[in-house]
Amino acid sequence: MSSAEDQKRAVGEAAAALVEADMVVGLGTGSTAAWFVKALGARGLAGLTCVATSQATAELASSLGLKIAELGETRTIDLTIDGADEIGPGLSLIKGGGAALLREKLVWEASKRCVVIGDAAKQVPLLGRYALPIEVVAFGHKTTADRICDVLAEFEIGVAPRLRVTDAGPVRTDNGNLIYDAACGRIEEPAALGAALKSLTGVVEHGLFLDLADRALIGTDGGVITVEP
Ligand code: A5P
Repeated sequence: MSSAEDQKRAVGEAAAALVEADMVVGLGTGSTAAWFVKALGARGLAGLTCVATSQATAELASSLGLKIAELGETRTIDLTIDGADEIGPGLSLIKGGGAALLREKLVWEASKRCVVIGDAAKQVPLLGRYALPIEVVAFGHKTTADRICDVLAEFEIGVAPRLRVTDAGPVRTDNGNLIYDAACGRIEEPAALGAALKSLTGVVEHGLFLDLADRALIGTDGGVITVEP
C-alpha cells in the first residue's frame, strides 16, 4: 500500500507534467503543492512565470529558480495547481488548512484552468468532516465569530467556530488576518453556506471552493487517477 506522502508526491509530479514551457502557472500551497513545485522546478523551464498563493510557496519556488510574479502583473494565469483538504462531489473542495485560502481563491479565480491534487484520503462523499477554515479580520473577530455561529445554526450546524492558534498564539495569515475553523461535520448546502458566510462583515473569505476545479488528480494505491467534475 502506498503512503499518503507517496501519493502526494505522485500527483505533484503528474501535475508538473501538465505544465507547458511558456505558461503562466499558479502555484498552490501545502505539502502536496510543494511536491508539485519541486517537480516543476526540476523541469527547468526557462520561459515559465509563476504566481504563488502564499509567501511560503513563493520562497520555495524562488529557491528552486522559478520566476515569481505578483497576481495581476502577468497575462491571465493559464493553469493553477493546488492541493485541498477535502475533494467532494463535483470537485467541490474545502481548502485553507494551510491558512492560504484567500490568496488561493484569488489565484484560482484568475486562472483559465485549475487542477486540484491530493492523496486518496482527500476524496470524500460529502464535504464537512474537515473543519471549514474561515478568514476574518482581526478587529472585532469575536463578534464576527458569534455571527458565523448564527449563520452555521441557520444551516443546522450546531458548532462554534474555533480560533486557530499555535503555541506562538493566534495564526496570522499572509494578509494579517485570523482564521476560525468550523467543524461542520456535514455540509449539505455548500453554495448557500458559502454565500451566507461571505455576506458577513468581517469575514474575508471561506475555504469552500465550488465550481472552480476543472480536474482532480488523485493518488491511489493503483497510481494517479483523473477525476472530472
Ligand atoms: C492551504 O491553505 C490549503 O488550501 C492546502 O492546499 C490544503 O490544506 C492541502 O494541504 P496538504 O497538501 O498539505 O494536505
